[in-house]
Amino acid sequence: MNDQSIKTILSLSPQGQTVRVCGWVRTKRESKTFSFLEINDGSCLRNIQVVVDEKTPDYKNVLNRLTTGASVEVTGVLAASQGGGQASEIQAAAIVIHGPADPQTYPLQKKHHSFEFLREIAHLRPRTNTLGAMARIRNALSMAVHQFFQERGFIYLHTPVIAGSDCEGAGEMFQVTTLPLENIPRQHGQVDYSQDFFKKKTGLTVSGQLEGEIYACALGRIYTFGPTFRAEHSDTSRHLAEFWMVEPEMAFCDIHQNMDMAEAFVKYICKYVLDHCQEDMFFFNRWVDTHLLDTLENVVQAEFVRITYSEAVQQLEKSGAAFEYPVSWGKDLQSEHEKHLTEHIFRKPVMVTDYPKQIKAFYMKMNQDGKTVRALDLHVPRLGEIIGGSERENDYDLLQARILELGLNPADYWWYLDLRRYGSVPHSGFGLGFERAVQFVTGLQNIRDVIPFPRTYGSAEF
Ligand code: 4AD
Ligand code: MG
Repeated sequence: MNDQSIKTILSLSPQGQTVRVCGWVRTKRESKTFSFLEINDGSCLRNIQVVVDEKTPDYKNVLNRLTTGASVEVTGVLAASQGGGQASEIQAAAIVIHGPADPQTYPLQKKHHSFEFLREIAHLRPRTNTLGAMARIRNALSMAVHQFFQERGFIYLHTPVIAGSDCEGAGEMFQVTTLPLENIPRQHGQVDYSQDFFKKKTGLTVSGQLEGEIYACALGRIYTFGPTFRAEHSDTSRHLAEFWMVEPEMAFCDIHQNMDMAEAFVKYICKYVLDHCQEDMFFFNRWVDTHLLDTLENVVQAEFVRITYSEAVQQLEKSGAAFEYPVSWGKDLQSEHEKHLTEHIFRKPVMVTDYPKQIKAFYMKMNQDGKTVRALDLHVPRLGEIIGGSERENDYDLLQARILELGLNPADYWWYLDLRRYGSVPHSGFGLGFERAVQFVTGLQNIRDVIPFPRTYGSAEF
């Protein structure tokens, strides 16, 4: 059992008290009569220095087995350190090695490893500074999400992972079935889903929004925070097949109030990590992106830009920049366009609204022009889209017409349509990609490095 974390011990003033730490050896420096160990237990970025000398029982033998990666339990006196670099150190009285690590084969010997290499050892990479700091920031950011919504009276809602309908209508669902794949039952040439577990076709959810709307239209304000799945073949640095999404949904709320909430939310979570994770944030600012703290402080202070899609297209055309994918009204914005808006034209987060209906999901509220919908995407520097949302279509006839127009089956959405038959209200919400938020606050460039075990196209090793 661990008595005290290294984080706690490092905050004590060294007065010769006896302490015990449990952790993993990061480095060992040997001299003739004594040696220094750096021990890390993951409670914080810093290691604690342990001095081992001949007074330690079985000194030579213990020292040989104290190699990088070994797990140890050290009991000793906490004293002021003689050397520079640290205020206190532990003078070991007893050391137990729980698990040695063979220096011939333990992969984490060097100080710096490439992210690509670390991804291949996802079972050991949390023992590095970068992945450890990422995991602590991810934890803090989760708390910030809950705190933000709880402070505002939102109810945390658990929506199902197995879904009967495709929320985004983009055909990116992973199917869930117990049908034997080697001998699929068929009737009239079609798969006979009546023999499947749920007696219908189901898949892993791509979003908890539709179920979220049900509870928002009863409780007022809800949010979901859970895993979502998309069988997208996009092999990019910002797409995962399994990612976490935060989705608030608010009744009696239009697109403008939705934008206010999205802006307040992003500012809040950025400020939260700046305030609560200073040591780890300084680390990322030093080693990953030297503009990180400036960028985040700017986000907390700045008023986000709010423009329509049509204005964004105009601005991009006017900029004269050469894009790989040319911009033109009606086409979706590519990440290069989103970055250009946030990094070159406005130099801060940009909320783009009123996208053409053909590039957005069926549930978004139609504008008067009949061409655009009340969509809202928030783009941030370095990353592009971090939030997607909208005001929802709350008119029964318009919604049904849109479902038919897109070739979807109204029978699959009967309960969703019912919300528009009984006590329909204007309502809105958005979804924040949680890993994109972790990327944004850490500066880490690849989404595979901000989730413990990434699932991407062609890869689900761990
Ligand atoms: O824009 P999206 O598709 O919106 C929805 O799913 C809505 N139902 C949300 C809502 O209104 N309640 O996804 C929302 C966000 C994106 O802005 C992005 O940050 C993230 O989810 N996202 C992904 N993150 C990682 N990997 C992927 N494949 C992602 N797809 C979307
Ligand atoms: Mg989107």
